[in-house]
Amino acid sequence: MTYIDAAAAPLRKNGQIKLHGPEAFAGMRKAGQLVARCLDMLVPEVKPGVPTDRINQLVFEFGMDHGAYPATLMYRGYTKSTCTSINHVVCHGIPNDKPLREGDIVNIDVTLILDGWHGDSSRMYGVGEIPRRAERLIDVTFESMNRGIAVIKPGATTGDIGAAIEAFVEPQNMSVVRDFCGHGLGRLFHDEPNIVHVGRRGEGIVLRPGMLFTVEPMINLGRPHVKVLSDGWTAVTRDRSLSAQFEHTVGVTETGVEVFTYSPMGLDKPPLISSRA
Ligand code: MF3
Ligand code: CO
Ligand code: CO
Repeated sequence: MTYIDAAAAPLRKNGQIKLHGPEAFAGMRKAGQLVARCLDMLVPEVKPGVPTDRINQLVFEFGMDHGAYPATLMYRGYTKSTCTSINHVVCHGIPNDKPLREGDIVNIDVTLILDGWHGDSSRMYGVGEIPRRAERLIDVTFESMNRGIAVIKPGATTGDIGAAIEAFVEPQNMSVVRDFCGHGLGRLFHDEPNIVHVGRRGEGIVLRPGMLFTVEPMINLGRPHVKVLSDGWTAVTRDRSLSAQFEHTVGVTETGVEVFTYSPMGLDKPPLISSRA
């Protein structure tokens, strides 16, 4: 795997890892903060009776109001402005007219393109009061993402990120999805390298200042295996167990990591109401 100065690189994905400069970090900061504000805006909108198409519409309008374009819209045949993945849906759930139900958990994944830069983030939201095991899954998933991000610095490897996530999740009898991973991004939505959410310390690709990528672990209460439904997008757990995901967009700095998509309102993990029974 080779690295290339992003300013000198072709825009397309070409097997090289782009190293970005200060202008890119400034652009990513703006795009990331806009996505975070969009996910903040949705917190009070996620409630029983609301169809996921309504959430999709709110994301679209938020993008338009702020000069940003939803990256998923018309991306590889996808026709929505967000992904809404409910309960046993692992990722890429397609918004529709079905109302959310009390007790559902839903991941909302938003990618906005602002001035050419991609900010990509997702969070779990509870619909009304959720089961205790759903809250546990969400808490473990959120913590696993943060542990993965915490090891990022120059000289660390992608394997270190995966190892940190895996080592935290598996002792809790939950599993890490293997079939989807984080990704480089910047002016492109999906670029090199893949960020796998399992791994061994010291393996994989060495992190260098200027790398931009996502950390977005998908964690299941049951087995890790997934299948994609006949719509070509919706990925579900094979055993129908609950699945959760969080995602941040980050950049590797000279000394560590910058998270571009932190919530300005402290809502990185939206508040949950769980049944204590
Ligand atoms: N936002 C997703 C990610 O984290 C990608 C969604 S692509 C779509 O990479 F086409 F399914 F929307
Ligand atoms: Co992503
Ligand atoms: Co995403």
